[in-house]
Amino acid sequence: MGLLGKRKDNTAGQVDRSRLPRHIAIIMDGNGRWAKQRGLPRTAGHKVGAETFRRIATCCKNLGVEYLTVYAFSTENWKRPAEEVSAIMGLLKQYMLEAIDTMERDQIRLRFLGNLNAIAPELQELVERTNEISDHIRGFQANVCLNYGGRDEILRAARACAAAGEELTEEHFSAHLYSAGIPDPELIIRPGGEQRISNFLLWQCAYSEFYFCDTLWPDFDERALEKAIIAYQGRDRRYGGVK
Ligand code: IPE
Ligand code: IPE
Ligand code: MG
Repeated sequence: MGLLGKRKDNTAGQVDRSRLPRHIAIIMDGNGRWAKQRGLPRTAGHKVGAETFRRIATCCKNLGVEYLTVYAFSTENWKRPAEEVSAIMGLLKQYMLEAIDTMERDQIRLRFLGNLNAIAPELQELVERTNEISDHIRGFQANVCLNYGGRDEILRAARACAAAGEELTEEHFSAHLYSAGIPDPELIIRPGGEQRISNFLLWQCAYSEFYFCDTLWPDFDERALEKAIIAYQGRDRRYGGVK
C-alpha cells in the first residue's frame, strides 16, 4: 500500500477483540448464483446458505458480538417463483424447529423482524414459541429479517407513532421499528458481489460501516467474517464531525 498514511482495508491481520462491533448485520446474498455455478437448482443454494447462517451465527457468538441480524427474506422476494419461495419458507421452518430445541442450551436468543402477519400461520406459531424461549435467555441475539422491508418498517412505525398521538422524535419513532431496543448495526456486510442496500435497515444504517465482498453467501466462512471485522476496525468513524 501507499507510503503515506495507514492502509484502510488491511484485512491480513487479526480481529481486535477489544473493539468488536456490538451488532453485525448481513445481507445473505448469492445463494442462487452459487447453485447455478454448480448446475444445481437455486433451492440447493438456499439450503447451503442456511448452513452458512448457522456457522456464522455461532462464530459471532463465540467472538463476543452481541447481535447478528440477517436478511433472510425481503418484502420484494415474494416476486420469485412460488417453488423457490416455498423452499425458503421450508428452510426457515426447519431452522425454527431446530432452534426451539437448541436455543436454551446454546443461550441464543432468536427474534424475527418483519411483517409476520403475511407468513404462514404455522410459521407464525413457531415465531411465538421462539419468542417465549428467548424471553428467558440472556446473551447473544440473532435477528432474522423475514418478510422484511426497510420502507415497510418506516411506514409502519410512522403510522404507529401517529396512532399513539406521540410527538415524532427519533426516540419515539425508533421504539415502533421492528428493531426497537436493538442498537444500530455498526457493520453491514453484503457478500455476493452486489453493492446495494436492497431495502435493508434503511433507518438503522445511518452511520453503519458497509463491507462488500464477492464471495457468494454459501461460501462465506469464518475467515470471511473476520476479514469484514478487520476492515471495519480500520475505518475512521467521524459521524459528521472532525478529529
Ligand atoms: C439470497 O440469495 C437469498 C434470498 C434473497 C432469499 P439469492 O437467492 O438472492 O441469490 P442470487 O443473488 O440470485 O445469487
Ligand atoms: C436481498 O437480496 C434480500 C435478501 C438477501 C433476503 P436480493 O437478491 O433479493 O436483492 P436484489 O434483488 O439483488 O437487490
Ligand atoms: Mg440475490
